[in-house]
Amino acid sequence: MKISSPWHTCLSGSAFLALFLAVSTSLSQAQDPRHKPAEPEWAHAAWMNKSLTADERADLVLKELTLDEKIDLLHGEGMPGWGKPKPNAYLGNGGAGFVLGVPRLGIPFIQMSDAAYGVRSSAENGRYSTALPSNVGAAASWDPQAACDYGALIGRELRAQGYNMTLGGGVNITREPRNGRTFEYQGEDPILAGTLVGNRIKCEQAQHVIGDIKHYAVNDQESGRNDVDSIIDKRSLQESDLLAFDIGIRIGDPQAVMCSYNAINGDYACENKYTLTDVLRKQWGFKGFVLSDWGGTHSTVKASEAGLDNEEPEDNFYGNTFKKAVQDGKISQAELNEHVHRILRAEFAAGLVDNPIRKSVVDVLGGLDTAQRIEESSIVLLKNSNHLLPLDKAGLKSIAIIGDHADMGMISGGGSAQVDPPGQPSAGWQAHVWFPTSPLKNVIAKAPTAKVQFASGSDVAAAAALARASDVAIVFVQQWTSEGMDLASLSLPDNQDALIGAVAAANPKTIVVLETGTAVTMPWVDRVGAIAEAWYSGSRGAEAVANVLFGDVNPSGKLPMTFPKSEADLPHPIVVQPPPGAQGASPVMHDGGAKPKFSVTYREGLKVGYKWYDAEKKPVLFPFGFGLSYTTYGYSDLQVTPGATPSVSFKVTNAGSKDGVEIAEVYASLPASAQEPPKRLIGFSRVSLAAGESKTVSIAIDPEYLSIFDVTADKWKLVAGSYTFLVGGSSQDLPLSKIVSIN
Ligand code: BGC
Repeated sequence: MKISSPWHTCLSGSAFLALFLAVSTSLSQAQDPRHKPAEPEWAHAAWMNKSLTADERADLVLKELTLDEKIDLLHGEGMPGWGKPKPNAYLGNGGAGFVLGVPRLGIPFIQMSDAAYGVRSSAENGRYSTALPSNVGAAASWDPQAACDYGALIGRELRAQGYNMTLGGGVNITREPRNGRTFEYQGEDPILAGTLVGNRIKCEQAQHVIGDIKHYAVNDQESGRNDVDSIIDKRSLQESDLLAFDIGIRIGDPQAVMCSYNAINGDYACENKYTLTDVLRKQWGFKGFVLSDWGGTHSTVKASEAGLDNEEPEDNFYGNTFKKAVQDGKISQAELNEHVHRILRAEFAAGLVDNPIRKSVVDVLGGLDTAQRIEESSIVLLKNSNHLLPLDKAGLKSIAIIGDHADMGMISGGGSAQVDPPGQPSAGWQAHVWFPTSPLKNVIAKAPTAKVQFASGSDVAAAAALARASDVAIVFVQQWTSEGMDLASLSLPDNQDALIGAVAAANPKTIVVLETGTAVTMPWVDRVGAIAEAWYSGSRGAEAVANVLFGDVNPSGKLPMTFPKSEADLPHPIVVQPPPGAQGASPVMHDGGAKPKFSVTYREGLKVGYKWYDAEKKPVLFPFGFGLSYTTYGYSDLQVTPGATPSVSFKVTNAGSKDGVEIAEVYASLPASAQEPPKRLIGFSRVSLAAGESKTVSIAIDPEYLSIFDVTADKWKLVAGSYTFLVGGSSQDLPLSKIVSIN
């Protein structure tokens, strides 16, 4: 059904009233008391009974629906800027897409917005959104509570802006660090990534927005993303890429999963029966709905049978073509009803029906505080020779601030994740966008008696001269990344390596602050005094960085991904490129018989991230789980209690003179017969410790985290034998170990 403008409709009076009420409810919720609407008929319908389950309520609605209403739920109504506007475009909320709902029965529209690190499209819609630190940045906090705060903030801002579904929740693990979307994901370890994305989704969805997890699955590079077939063996798939989704879904219970553009082992992800039905629905018991990535639907009958419930953003396969397939008996009523049930169920389960959208003003100041707090726990101190940091506020006479835009802002990640900064129009797709959070101003505020001078670095000699004349030099460097592209290398672009080299040669008290979306190589690592990874730091990045540099915040972040020495050490020394004509940088629609045009074979299999470097014995620049503090921590007294849920306990001591937070990490080496990489992360905890304080930490280990996926039995199994439990402050600094036999 196409809903024409209510002012030109020939609907009957009561149908019009119900429709108008529901549309206005799902859109602006303008609450003008002069026009207080009469209670709609559906207000007392059986499915409005909150004591029924979401499944029961969905079934009651399903029985009332016409075929056209069912089909309406299976597809989007277009996206601003995506092809020609669709007839119902005026009913959208300015987001990435929307689904009509069933106004006459009180089932609201689903208004979706991208929201990776904040709500997208603020500029075009005249709204405001907080930019949180990038997802991989926030993952460096290893903090489920921070992930929850992150999700809750985005959920609130979505609702305030008139949306009731997020398209955030990216959790593709970092198999390929040059992937341009690495900043949107949660790093290279499935247990860390899944735990964090799950907590984000749980708290985001608690705000009554449908939560989403994406891009399901193995969308691990952007190059040729619409045409690439990701080839990977089943065990590796289950134990790495899929495990992150499994954990995220278990913790967060998202009501939606977005299938990805790429194919997996021959079948496109949005028509892949193995991932969508065998794993997602049957193995994991997922009850929500699957929507395609934008333009990622390739067929009707095949996709429907495989388990795709909703096509976005248009109706090329899930509109009239779907209806005809039902009428012709190619798709059964039961299959159609299953899709519809899942979508309706999601609306009930996430609280959309019971909590209609009511637009409000975004809590700007609260958002800024949250963004800063998360960034402060996400900055990773990578190097600090001779205690160069923290800087002495009163003692320093002169400070050089060097780097492109370091006087006015800090960079952010591009593509559909892009959040618009305040005071500016939309910069457009893949623009380089700096948030107005000024490193220069914040350093001046911290050291008011010092002479603080700025050089952009475009003139390397001038920057070096300024550094030479200053007590310390702080160089802010950037690596911009985005959806729709991969990096050719992990080197800093735009001559910034040479800039750092020249500045460090002029003044060894050089501090490098990295604003990056992924790992970078550092040919100058031995020549600088200190290095802090600030990631894409969000709306209050510079405030957080200044707090860390001057010691008002003791750094606690740890790397959620390995920083390799060189691209030559990666499992794939170069990113596999699509053949000519299959660039795939923007979504392409196929005719239903779609076949991927090239493939990437993930031969490294289970060996993702640190598991690769461990197994291949390759030294790295900075290991997974690494990060320094202004204090030091000691570990002792490891106990392991095997059992149905093994438990690990140990003591952590703050051995220095500053309060701090230590991220304690627990790894396990499985019995040799399991044929696994040398070790895997199985638990972690952020431990807050005053100077001199000790605490005993106990971590219950999910037995699946010690298991392997048995392909023949098609399930997880615990291998009997000797397990070595390792505990410490980084994947390469594990002072405690204990061997325990598990049968
Ligand atoms: C991206 C998705 C995004 C969608 C809608 C696609 O290009 O891959 O992550 O949610 O667009 O903007």
